[in-house]
Amino acid sequence: MKKVITVVGARPQFIKLAALSKALRPHFKEIIIHTGQHYDYEMSKSFFDELEIPDVDYNLEVGSGPAGYQIGTMLIKLEEIFIKEKPDCVIVFGDTNSTSAAAIAAVKNKIKLGHVEAGLREFNKYIPEESNKLITDILSDFYFCPTPTAIDILKSMGITEGVYNIGDVMIDIILLNWEKILNNNNPFITNGIKKKDYVLLTCHRANNTDLKENLEQILSSLSEIKETIIFPIHPRTLKAIETYNFKHYIDKPNIIVTKPLGYIDTQTLIHYAKFVLTDSGGVTKEAYFHEVPGILLDLQTEWVETINEGWNQQAGPSKENIIAAYHNITIPNYISKCLGDGKASEKIVEILINNL
Ligand code: UD1
Ligand code: UDP
Repeated sequence: MKKVITVVGARPQFIKLAALSKALRPHFKEIIIHTGQHYDYEMSKSFFDELEIPDVDYNLEVGSGPAGYQIGTMLIKLEEIFIKEKPDCVIVFGDTNSTSAAAIAAVKNKIKLGHVEAGLREFNKYIPEESNKLITDILSDFYFCPTPTAIDILKSMGITEGVYNIGDVMIDIILLNWEKILNNNNPFITNGIKKKDYVLLTCHRANNTDLKENLEQILSSLSEIKETIIFPIHPRTLKAIETYNFKHYIDKPNIIVTKPLGYIDTQTLIHYAKFVLTDSGGVTKEAYFHEVPGILLDLQTEWVETINEGWNQQAGPSKENIIAAYHNITIPNYISKCLGDGKASEKIVEILINNL
C-alpha cells in the first residue's frame, strides 16, 4: 500500500479529516500528524472521539503563539517525520498555519502535495489565512477544489494541472451523520430552546477579535437582535472579551454562552436555527447546506455562491449592517447545492489511486 500522511491541527481540519480518513484507509496506509495548534478537549479530542477519527500517529504539541513560531516549529518537526516516514503524498486541509507549514515541509522534501479546499481566496494577503492559502496553492500537485469558483481562481493564477472540482468534504461528514443530526434533541433539552426559535452565533476570525472596535461592533449589535442567541465561544474570542471588558455585551438573558460545542450538537443547532450569525467558513457553508440563512460577520469572499444565491448576507463587523441584515432575513426559494454531493472524499481517493 502507498503511504499518505494527513496533517491537521485546527478544529475544522479534524472534521474534514473525519470524512477523508474513512475513504482513504481501505486503499492507503494513512499516517495522521496533529500539529497541536488546537489542544483544548472541546477544540480537538472531542472531534476524534465523536467522529471516530483514528488515533493520531504523531502529535507535535506546538500549541499557541505567533505565526512565525507556529509555522517554524511545525516545519522543523514535520520535516523530521517526513524524512523518517517517506510518504508518497502529504494531504493538507484548508488554510491554517498547520496547512502552510506542512506544504513547505512536503515540497522541500520532494513529496507530492494534495490540498483539500484548494483555490479559495480572500484577496487580502494580510488576512492570516490568505498567505497560508497562497503558499499551499503555489506548491500543490493535487488541487481538490470545492467549487467551480475555486477552479477559476486557480486558472487566473495560471494553475490548470492537477486541478479537480470534487465538492466540499464537510458535506460528506454531514451526510454520514445526517440521522444523528436530525434526531439529536440534546441541545434543545440542555438550553431550553425550541426548534427554529433561536439564532446560532459563532465568531473567531482574527480581524473580528484582535481589533477591539470590530468586536465591539459585533457584540453591541446583539442587543438589537430580539431572539434567543446561542453563542458557543471560541477560546480566542473569550480571551478578547475578557481583555476588552466586553462581558456586559453577552451577559444578557437572551444570550446563552457555552464552551465550544461538539460536532453533532453544532450541526443540529445549525439545522434547526432561525438563522446563523457567523464569521466561520465552516458554519457559512454548513448553514447553506442545511438551508438556513446567515449573516456573515466577516468580509471574507470564499463562499461567494452562498451570497449570490441569497442564503448569506455579508454584513462584516458593522453594527449597522448586521442590524440591517437582521431585518432583511429571508429564506430564498432556490438553492443550487453547489457545495457537492457528499462524495468529495471518495473522489479524492480515486484521484490519488490513479495518480500516485
Ligand atoms: C485558527 C486558524 C483559522 C481557523 C481557526 C479554526 C490560523 C492562522 N488560523 O484560528 O484559520 O478558522 O483556527 O478554529 O491558522 N486557543 C486555546 N485553546 C485551543 C486553541 C486555541 O485557548 O485549543 C486560544 C489561544 O489563546 C490561541 C488562540 O486561541 O492563541 C488562537 O488560536 P490559533 O490556533 O492561533 O488561531 P485560531 O483563531 O484558532
Ligand atoms: N463547530 C463546532 N463547535 C463549535 C463551533 C463550530 O463543532 O462550537 C464546527 C462547525 O460546525 C464547523 C467547524 O467547527 O464544522 C468550523 O470551525 P471554525 O469555525 O473553528 O473554523 P473555520 O471553518 O472558520 O476555519
